[in-house]
Amino acid sequence: MKFFLDTANIDEIKRINDLGLCDGVTTNPSLVAKEGRDFEEVIKDIASTVDGPVSAEVTGLTYEEMVAEARELAKWADNIVVKIPMTEAGLKAVSTLSKEGIKTNVTLIFSVAQGLLAAKAGATYISPFIGRIDDMGENGIELIADLRQVLDIYDLDAEIIAASIRHIGHFEQAALAGAHIGTIPGTLFPKLWSHVLTDKGIDGFMKDWEKFTSNQKK
Ligand code: E4P
Repeated sequence: MKFFLDTANIDEIKRINDLGLCDGVTTNPSLVAKEGRDFEEVIKDIASTVDGPVSAEVTGLTYEEMVAEARELAKWADNIVVKIPMTEAGLKAVSTLSKEGIKTNVTLIFSVAQGLLAAKAGATYISPFIGRIDDMGENGIELIADLRQVLDIYDLDAEIIAASIRHIGHFEQAALAGAHIGTIPGTLFPKLWSHVLTDKGIDGFMKDWEKFTSNQKK
């Protein structure tokens, strides 16, 4: 499983990238707006920090707007992936862009049908939103498993990015369900390596070691 960072915050990205655990980054207009910086500056900053794919989302909603924006975004860096919303115009844009060799990430996927259509249109990545599905009282992880099955049956190239991950359980279950990638919020990522019993264990080992070494000095 590849790990993407779901944030536009450069400090969060650098922290995980320095651990060798950042395979890519996803952003969306809400995440970029939170940084209060210029969109182009933020995306170029991220794209030059990480080696892997960096998703930048279009804001136009017509086919013409999406394609024009995507062509511009793709010029900003070699590792830019254009994020396109799952609409009729979005599917048409993905189809055009894939023929031009521009990588796309179809976002806001909430059903197997949507994922299958996006993959057939030529999406490089499809992003089902687990957390938002769970918020509706449905099961986001089931959608990941179903999408993986369908992509495998029909030998489609698109990779599944488990998005809208809210907690450690989502991350673990998405991995078990066969997501190719999990995109993890910058604030959640550090919690993945933490465990109360690890901290307790280190504390106990250190106390025993201190006792042992001070007894040896006597
Ligand atoms: C990533 O591609 C999505 O934009 C993001 O995971 C959405 O997460 P949210 O549902 O917590 O806003």
